[in-house]
Amino acid sequence: MRIVVIHGANLNRLGRREPEVYGTATLADVDAAIQREAQTLGITVNTVQHSGEGAIVDAIAAAAESADGIVINPGAYSHYSYAIRDAVAGAGIPAVEVHLSNTAARESFRAQSVVAPVCVGVVAGFGANSYCLALRALAAALSRKTP
Ligand code: DQA
Repeated sequence: MRIVVIHGANLNRLGRREPEVYGTATLADVDAAIQREAQTLGITVNTVQHSGEGAIVDAIAAAAESADGIVINPGAYSHYSYAIRDAVAGAGIPAVEVHLSNTAARESFRAQSVVAPVCVGVVAGFGANSYCLALRALAAALSRKTP
């Protein structure tokens, strides 16, 4: 089983960016936690990070051709990018939206995601563990579909 994790805008700055909100773990730390979880689950996970909307759309299209599922944290694009929503909707493989922070407990504009309705689920508020929980849930959902 192959899952692609896509980190979106500004997530390359984790650890230095608003640590009071996002914690002090860097993106490398998050990716290491993801790989540990992948090993536990016995699946292959590739991670990518792009801050540009078009690059994220391209990464979703590439995942659609090569992977069984997508875990995506679009960053602020979650709240308004119809291009990312359309890419996820058209990928033909299931996606889970992830947020480090609990977006429902922050500014009101973060409470809405235009991407979440085309995902199979959302995990938010658990820091790096949000990604691990999403991987676990997506792997379980995918293996239920495998005959
Ligand atoms: C975020 C939440 C978004 O609202 C914000 O714009 C981000 C990070 C999170 O992981 O908590 O960039 O996606």
